[in-house]
Amino acid sequence: MMKGKHIILGICGGIAAYKSVYLLRLLVKAGAEVQVVITPAGKEFITPVTLSSLSGKPVISEFFTANTGSWNSHVDLGLWADAMIIAPATASTIGKMANGIADNMLVTTYLSAKCPIFLAPAMDLDMMAHPSTKRNLELLASYGNHIIEPAVGELASHLVGKGRMEEPENIVKAVEAYFSSQCDLKGRSVMITAGPTYERIDPVRFIGNYSSGKMGYAIAEECARRGAEVTLVSGPVSLKCSNPRIRRIDVESAREMLEAADEAFATSDVAIMCAAVADYYVENRATTKIKREKDEIPQIVLKRNPDIAATLGAKKRPWQLLVGFALETDNEAVNAKSKIERKNLDFIVLNSLRDKDACFGTDTNKVTIIAADGAEKPFALKPKSEVARDIVDEVVSRLR
Ligand code: C5P
Repeated sequence: MMKGKHIILGICGGIAAYKSVYLLRLLVKAGAEVQVVITPAGKEFITPVTLSSLSGKPVISEFFTANTGSWNSHVDLGLWADAMIIAPATASTIGKMANGIADNMLVTTYLSAKCPIFLAPAMDLDMMAHPSTKRNLELLASYGNHIIEPAVGELASHLVGKGRMEEPENIVKAVEAYFSSQCDLKGRSVMITAGPTYERIDPVRFIGNYSSGKMGYAIAEECARRGAEVTLVSGPVSLKCSNPRIRRIDVESAREMLEAADEAFATSDVAIMCAAVADYYVENRATTKIKREKDEIPQIVLKRNPDIAATLGAKKRPWQLLVGFALETDNEAVNAKSKIERKNLDFIVLNSLRDKDACFGTDTNKVTIIAADGAEKPFALKPKSEVARDIVDEVVSRLR
């Protein structure tokens, strides 16, 4: 469950911070990639050297790195994480979180995070029982945060009561239980095409397009995160996959993409055709570099590429789901709807080049999901990771 998961471990200044070292070790052992963010007070209890040795990453505490001018991006961190665990969560940090007081990296990261948040409070029994703490925790729970209740037992003050941070094993179990409840694609296999295709003209030149592959890769990560076995048939891009459940097959041309996609589709429940496939390939491809001739201009002879989506659409079985993409510059909805029919798609994701900060190369996208019956669902401009979530939600609702 934890394998490949990105976890932010937030550590506050409480004596239970010593248990966070063990929690970190358990998370890493379970296969998670962990980034520790510690409050200034947290460093009084446990040293960053211990934490960075165990996590294999420098510990983040300050907004800025002295002398170098570099700064830590809480926004990037918040988007990177699959979960944030704050353990121990002290009364002070709980109060800041409940009220949006972003005066350290931990609370700022919390406010930017899009992922589920788990808090394991730890404090003295009277602080725990105080109406302020209780109200702040209730408020945080009402925002959707998961509170891992502290246990009753002997506290650092030697008093006995409720306030002991939950044991690291149980914190890991709580997070694992959450992830397993989110695995609505477990047992499903999904094939995704992504990126551009390159059609060679000669050994050094090609016909390509501006597709970065970011949308397809975000969908692959989202499907894998939700438990699917993913085959990602990728055109030439400079992206990397992080989830071990993604099997990536690199291809260059549309015909290579068809071969790989066709084979994977035979055993897939879902296929999402995100690639920007070249419509034509070069029939008279040169085997040696074309030289600049004085008088003659070389002629490129184009031949139509196979339509991968349509080929799979023609073979689609009743239990399979086929999703297409439409990138349009004009007459968007009409063009998208005709593709649904032509390619036998279940739904199509439409994006328009007329929308600013959407489509090629950007980290955001603005899409409309159009169903085979013509029903349209428009979405706002969002990061591609969130667009991926909307698309996969649509897939999951149809699989049900
Ligand atoms: O026909 P058009 O290229 O606009 O259709 C876009 C959709 O069809 C996308 O889902 C794209 O991945 C897919 N496609 C394909 N093979 C092609 C052309 C497009 O799979 N040769």
